[in-house]
Amino acid sequence: MHSYRVPPNSTVRGRVRVPGDKSISHRSVMLGGIAEGRTQVTGFLASADCLATLEAFRAMGVEVDRHSETSLTVHGRGLHGLKAPTQRLDMGNAGTAIRLSMGLLAGQKFESVLTGDSSLRSRPMERVAKPLRAMGADILTIDGKPPVTVRPATQLVGIDYALPVASAQVKSAILLAGLYAQGVTRVTEPAPTRDHSERMLRGFGIRVDTHERTVSLAGGQKLSGARIEVPGDISSAAFFLVAGCLAGADDFVLENVGVNPTRTGVIDILKLMGADLRVHPRPAQGAEPVADIEVRRSALRGIAVPESLVPLAIDELPVLFVAAAAAEGETVFTGAAELRVKESDRLAVMAEGLTRLGVTNELAPDGIRIGGGRRLQGGEIDSHGDHRIAMSFAVASLICDGTIQVRDTENVGTSFPGFVETARGCGLELTSL
Ligand code: S3P
Repeated sequence: MHSYRVPPNSTVRGRVRVPGDKSISHRSVMLGGIAEGRTQVTGFLASADCLATLEAFRAMGVEVDRHSETSLTVHGRGLHGLKAPTQRLDMGNAGTAIRLSMGLLAGQKFESVLTGDSSLRSRPMERVAKPLRAMGADILTIDGKPPVTVRPATQLVGIDYALPVASAQVKSAILLAGLYAQGVTRVTEPAPTRDHSERMLRGFGIRVDTHERTVSLAGGQKLSGARIEVPGDISSAAFFLVAGCLAGADDFVLENVGVNPTRTGVIDILKLMGADLRVHPRPAQGAEPVADIEVRRSALRGIAVPESLVPLAIDELPVLFVAAAAAEGETVFTGAAELRVKESDRLAVMAEGLTRLGVTNELAPDGIRIGGGRRLQGGEIDSHGDHRIAMSFAVASLICDGTIQVRDTENVGTSFPGFVETARGCGLELTSL
């Protein structure tokens, strides 16, 4: 089992470029695979999660040329051109891969079985299966979890569905099934979530209408191959945004970060906490806005995090808990129960790690209260195989007086290959053992 050894660190400096956006990379292969013609992708995230999607689509007959780690051509097979896979599709650790694929596969004329690693096999899939069944899909889960069997449906029909939880994965799965459905499919969200599927579908020539919180599309529309430039992942940049707030030198800049407004909750929350953070937009590259972000050492203060920002920062909350530990006073997160069904129970696992380092905190079913402002002690942290927990505690070394040992760090490669090198490049002393 791999681990990180992180001695106390004091400064981060220089220009940092994080790898491509995970959500957009998954979608580029999926939509490229069912488009007509070629899709050129640059900035692709060659992480274990996105490679699982790529292999799954290859197993369904989609040819993908890899010109380099990050540059691909996806040869689309059209809406009805996928082939039956001969084996189970193994989505590894990737919730986005399995849930979006469920929607896409619901409309196919063949059976498929989707599975993943032990973490993915413990995550809820009925939130996707239920609305898909209402569209006529034939889907089986095991007690609500993977393996998921998707059998051919006679004909999907559009539905009008109000999402019970704010989830871009569920929204996207329903929209993908909607491409195969008769009539119009409508999804209404309780709160805005990332809209990469909507933006990318439009880039492939699909008419997608958005009115307030309702997204709709008509079935039967064809996708035409597109060019996709994947920006840097703000969820990976978040570790360095917080590092910059804790210990950024005057020259610390994150380059080429995707700043889609449905993803920038981390920026808004850090600013509310008093972060000295400046966003410099870059010329538009495509469907997604991109910026360079300058961030300096800042005197953070505790806040009550507005619940409306939680879905817009859902993957960044673990590292924001580290920011909260550094902030003067108390920070309160509520409305974040979704964290309990991520790659780990991120509320419980972060609370356990923070307690280990001497941070006072109090868990609630849907959040956590964190007392900040004191230097942390070193200690051994169990990441529970969760990539974002492991990286969050590497950042905690910037406010720590002792060495932090983070156990079980292999899964960092699911979202951020090269994390160790990037961290070391900007001054974080960190050894991978
Ligand atoms: C994602 C949506 C979010 C997020 C995940 C990626 C996506 O999940 O946590 O990392 O790409 O649509 P939920 O839809 O479960 O909130």
